[in-house]
Amino acid sequence: MSKFAYLLVSGALAACAASVAGWQVHAEANRVQFPDLDALVHYTTVRRGDVTEHIMTTPAAMAAVKNGRPIPAGTHFVLADHRDGKLYRYFVMEKGEGFGAEYDEARRTADWQFQWFWPDKSINIDENTARCQSCHRGQEDSDYLYTAYRIPRFDGTPVE
Ligand code: HEC
Repeated sequence: MSKFAYLLVSGALAACAASVAGWQVHAEANRVQFPDLDALVHYTTVRRGDVTEHIMTTPAAMAAVKNGRPIPAGTHFVLADHRDGKLYRYFVMEKGEGFGAEYDEARRTADWQFQWFWPDKSINIDENTARCQSCHRGQEDSDYLYTAYRIPRFDGTPVE
């Protein structure tokens, strides 16, 4: 990642941390199901210090992005977050018909819902996924995704 992008992300992290400090944190199961990882394509890797993030999605979503079409319902994006080479957690976004209707407008990220899974695929019950949405809302112009713009460059080797 370029130094500029890194600074942007650091700034976003600080801003998000500040904005959620006062929120109540509570367990939150939602509509997101853990996907079949074997059905997903690993299209990019983001490295930052000892953190390595392998990011993947469905072939159908990749085709949609490449062709400038909307990403279909039923799509998962997964960020497999590794620390010092060891799997730490999975961040998952899932788009589903009507998923957005479950949130008020101030929180909604179109029809995407978010979830944090531990390596055993259980949910992190301490996470309030409004935090995920709050940050990803900054990416509204790219369907709430940060790295989808890399998909057209994918030629079989994860884009770095
Ligand atoms: C402080 C801002 C911020 C918060 C909070 C955040 N994300 Fe993200 N997310 C990012 C950024 C930036 C990326 C791009 C990868 C990178 O630079 O680390 C990303 C990437 C992703 C991706 C890969 C698809 C994409 O958008 O490129 C998924 C999936 C994801 N996040 C899920 C989550 C989930 C689930 C949560 C909450 C548990 C969450 N995110 C919270 C900023 C955030």
